[in-house]
Formats: sequence, structure tokens, C-alpha cells
Amino acid sequence: MTEILPLNQIPAADVERLLDAAFGADRHRRTAYKLRAGTKAIPALSFAAVDDGALIGTLQSWPVVLETPSGERAPLTLVGPVAVLPALQRGGIGRMLMTHMLTVADAGAADALMMIGDPEYYGRFFGFTADSTGGWHLPGPFERHRLLARTSRAGGVPSAGVIGPDIGGIA
Ligand SMILES: CC(C)(COP(=O)(O)OP(=O)(O)OC[C@H]1O[C@@H](n2cnc3c(N)ncnc32)[C@H](O)[C@@H]1OP(=O)(O)O)[C@@H](O)C(=O)NCCC(=O)NCCS
Repeated sequence: MTEILPLNQIPAADVERLLDAAFGADRHRRTAYKLRAGTKAIPALSFAAVDDGALIGTLQSWPVVLETPSGERAPLTLVGPVAVLPALQRGGIGRMLMTHMLTVADAGAADALMMIGDPEYYGRFFGFTADSTGGWHLPGPFERHRLLARTSRAGGVPSAGVIGPDIGGIA
């Protein structure tokens, strides 16, 4: 049976091995890694899927900040990577991890989520869209239609600015 556990209960080396299997060992060059450089994954929003003691999926979330041209700083939560062991993909594990994280987020842990991901997956199942991210900039290349957000913050999130790591953000 698959259970969802806090990610910090899993040895870091096991998580890295799974991420290499899902994304390839060159994944560190991706823009998402620049976004979170120097931060630590948010324990309350990072999870592992474990089946009979074996790690089969992970989801990590990170503190980032959107800085507007006028210097306003809006904290956001970067979701991802979401990764499932290749042999077990398309079996509902990604959805289990995302649903669990969103339940915790919507209960008060985070009100402004962002990610770089496929809208065909993260829009269809989880309500992420690129509708409000057209004025956001990142510290590296990305496909604009894959820059997604899901927010419920009162007053909204700024429509323009640069996103980077929130060093000293939520530990
Ligand atoms: C993307 C990923 C996390 C999805 O998790 P999963 O457990 O494989 O998928 P689920 O079982 O939750 O969802 C399956 C459904 O989503 C669809 N789906 C899965 N990945 C998709 C994608 N990248 N784009 C569009 N649809 C996708 C499937 O077609 C399936 O739809 P169906 O039910 O109509 O057949 C997983 O496949 C993975 O680790 N992929 C490699 C790494 C990656 O690309 N991660 C995403 C970027 S952060």
C-alpha cells in the first residue's frame, strides 16, 4: 500500500537517486534549481510516496520571492520537482502527492503557489494556470506557458517582477 510521509523522514541520498531517475542527472542546470538556490525545502509541504518501505515518489516545495520593479517583495511557494519512479508513472502517485500537498497548503500552509510544469497535467488536475504569470521573470530560460501559479491570497500577487530564492524564508 502506498503511503505519504514527510520527506524529511527519507534519506537525502534516496531522494536524489529518485530525482536522477525521473529527470536525468543533468537536472541541476534547470532554471527551477536557480530559483531555489541556497534555500531549504519547506518541511510541511514536502512529501514522499512510499510503498512497502520503498521510495517511489517525491514532492518538494521551496520558499521563493517575487520582487516587483518598485521593490515590493511577495513571498511565494515554489512547488517541484514532483517525481515518480519511471516504472510506476501514470499510476496515480503524482496525483496522490499533489493532492496531499494542496490539502496542507489550502489549510493555511501556503496561499500562493508557483511552479514550472506541464499545464496539461498541473492545470487539468490541480488548478495551476499561466494566466497571471505573463509579467513574471526568472533567472534562466523557461517556456512561458509552463510558468504556472495557483493562488488564493487576499489582494492577489503582483503581476510583474523577478522571482528568486527567498533566503531566510520559511525554514
Ligand atoms: C509528471 C509526473 C509527476 C506525474 O505523476 P504520475 O504518477 O506519473 O501521473 P498520475 O498517475 O498522477 O496522472 C496520470 C494522468 O496524468 C496524465 N499525465 C501525466 N504526466 C503528464 C504530463 N507531463 N503532461 C500531461 N499529462 C500527464 C496522464 O496521461 C494521466 O492521464 P489519464 O488519467 O487521463 O490517463 C510523473 O509522470 C513524473 O515523475 N514524470 C517525470 C518528471 C516530470 O516530468 N515531472 C513534472 C515536472 S515538475
